[in-house]
Amino acid sequence: MHRLYTRSPIAKVMWGILSSLLGIIVLLLVLVSEVPRMEAQTINWQGRSVENGATLFDSNCATCHGPNGQGLLGRAPGLNSYYFFTPTGRLADVGWAGSLEDYVKLTIAAGRPSKTDSQWPEIMPTWGGQFGGPLRGDQVEDLTLYVMNWQESALAQTPEEDPFQPFDDVLKPVEFQHTAFLFLSEEEQSAALEEYKARSIRAPEELWQSEACFACHNLAARQDDEPGQNGPNLADLFERAGSRVEGMTAEEYVYQSIVDPAAFVVLTYEDVGEMPQNFADKLSEVEIQGLVEWLLDPERDQEQEISE
Ligand code: HEC
Ligand code: HEC
Repeated sequence: MHRLYTRSPIAKVMWGILSSLLGIIVLLLVLVSEVPRMEAQTINWQGRSVENGATLFDSNCATCHGPNGQGLLGRAPGLNSYYFFTPTGRLADVGWAGSLEDYVKLTIAAGRPSKTDSQWPEIMPTWGGQFGGPLRGDQVEDLTLYVMNWQESALAQTPEEDPFQPFDDVLKPVEFQHTAFLFLSEEEQSAALEEYKARSIRAPEELWQSEACFACHNLAARQDDEPGQNGPNLADLFERAGSRVEGMTAEEYVYQSIVDPAAFVVLTYEDVGEMPQNFADKLSEVEIQGLVEWLLDPERDQEQEISE
């Protein structure tokens, strides 16, 4: 029997196939065990990087951003913060389309240029060597990993725990930057925005300045419309608005002049200045109504107009 096996050519082929299979299995086993080993190695390596980052943070960043990245009031913003980590928070407010990790890395490497209207007493310095800072590229990486390692704990913060400080460089009003707002449901958020719009109607005097009506119109001196001015004098508008266009009341005419200036062009200014065409988009309905009423008010405070 024994002989038969070893001598048979079929048996030899079988042995050959079997040992090849065995070799493949052993190889697969080694590979399978290698993957977790490499993963563990990466985690280990990343862990060391985070550790290095922590040391670098303590010696370079904590003086401004606080020991645990919680920020220091009036000095530098919190990074270990729900607002900072949630995608609808900081990144949405500054309009950053990339990842938070890239945002952090770039900010650390390049710093932030000084802004004239900055709310912080000192600027965020440049750290990356490629931008003239004191740290190497791998140190910037370590710091980035360290900051990113707060993600889980930061996202677990309640609005009360979040060390958030409002940013002046964000156009959104402070109450809508706040983490408490981000915790609201979509319906609650839009209701709060509606409520805000109703509450923040700008007065006609404010619009007169902010929309630069004063640059083209004169409210104080009564003078004749003359070519060469940028727009008609509006001091006595209440006297003539009602008779500018037949069939239109003074209110209707002034309203139309603001939302659709091209509908009726005061002859004397045809070639001189042009009334902006987009006030209907920029101002709310309530604000336009306010302007109309104010412009037609004979008792209007004539001092308003000066803005130097
Ligand atoms: C001298 C104070 C100061 C030091 C030191 C400092 N920062 Fe900053 N950092 C700031 C200020 C101020 C801002 C906000 C700048 C702005 O928005 O105009 C900021 C912003 C940041 C931001 C972006 C925050 C955001 O919400 O946009 C990150 C990330 C950051 N710093 C990380 C670091 C790291 C990491 C270090 C240490 C290597 C560091 N900072 C050291 C003052 C500092
Ligand atoms: C860039 C110059 C310019 C600016 C800014 C401007 N206007 Fe005018 N506006 C004109 C000119 C030119 C006319 C006359 C031509 C016309 O009727 O469109 C005019 C016409 C008017 C009229 C009709 C006056 C009349 O005598 O019949 C009103 C009312 C008016 N503007 C209100 C405003 C208000 C309110 C603002 C700010 C929200 C404003 N304008 C901003 C140039 C300007």
